[in-house]
Amino acid sequence: MRLRSYGNQKTLQAVIVFAFSLFSIIIFGHVESASGKNEGVTSIFSPLSQPAQEIKETSFLVLAVCAIIFVIVGGLLLYSIVRFRHREGDEATEPAQVYGSNQIELAWTVLPILIVFVLILVTSRTIADIQDRRSPPGAVQATVIGHQWWWEIRYPELGIVTANELHIPASNGDTRRPAFLKLQSADVAHSFWVPQLAGKTDLIPNRENRMWFEPTKPGTYLGNCAEYCGTQHARMLIRVVVQTPEEFDRWVRDQQQATSVATTAADGRKSFFANSCVNCHTIRGTSAQGKFGPDLTHLMGREMLAAGAAPNTAENLRLWVRDPQRIKLGCLMPNMQMTDTEVDQIVAYLQTLK
Ligand code: CUA
Repeated sequence: MRLRSYGNQKTLQAVIVFAFSLFSIIIFGHVESASGKNEGVTSIFSPLSQPAQEIKETSFLVLAVCAIIFVIVGGLLLYSIVRFRHREGDEATEPAQVYGSNQIELAWTVLPILIVFVLILVTSRTIADIQDRRSPPGAVQATVIGHQWWWEIRYPELGIVTANELHIPASNGDTRRPAFLKLQSADVAHSFWVPQLAGKTDLIPNRENRMWFEPTKPGTYLGNCAEYCGTQHARMLIRVVVQTPEEFDRWVRDQQQATSVATTAADGRKSFFANSCVNCHTIRGTSAQGKFGPDLTHLMGREMLAAGAAPNTAENLRLWVRDPQRIKLGCLMPNMQMTDTEVDQIVAYLQTLK
């Protein structure tokens, strides 16, 4: 008898914990969106762009249907636990024996089929609507290529190549400038995911996937690679910098310039070109045309280093050039075994790449 009531208690506990978790996921998702901040928020519950908005609406419908089913089933369960709990003297009598009920069996077969069918229709409509979107004139076209462990970003129409930080303009009522991305991979499978902008889309070797988003609010949107792709998968962060159309156009003009040959840091420049940096990195307007690592032409315009592993400060840049493995163990940039002077000189040169 004691054993049985202990079992009931456990069930009750599990039910309460589950209900509370579901409740907090939904509520806290909303609290975040209510604060109005988008800096650093990576919640699917505070979308600031299509198609993330549409995905949230669909998922809320699914959650609501599931919540109703949960309350009904949980309620019946709770009712049965309390109403038919063990009582003194139960041992003497046998409970009523029920051998099937056509009505109830029909109900619990047909109802779930109908519910699942409705959910299939709603979900398919959302997926089709998102996938069939055609890019309007004025859309920004970019190609994002996943590498272990960084993002190469190309704007073929604008002649820009950059890395890890995707700049796009914000749309407003009159001028719509959504971003349409072609997703490719240079090595293994990755996944592009910026929760406030859109759902996940994989980057698969030898295949081209597509996605789009259309944010209306300027700001920095954070995301991650969402497909395990090796030891530094967690440090394969993506930033989407949404700018006003004017700011974006200015950014494009700056990026289109080849780097101006700085008169300072001549020693560093010499060191950079004497070492094998040039085999992997491109600096437009120079003989450095390597394609293996990120384009460094406008390195200083980026907020972060090493795909979000560290802020782009002079100190971190120095650490990175001296021994990249200290910041990102396993990354494909080797320790070049340079002297302190060489490291200082190269960092001084890199800081001219504005
Ligand atoms: Cu790239 Cu995980």
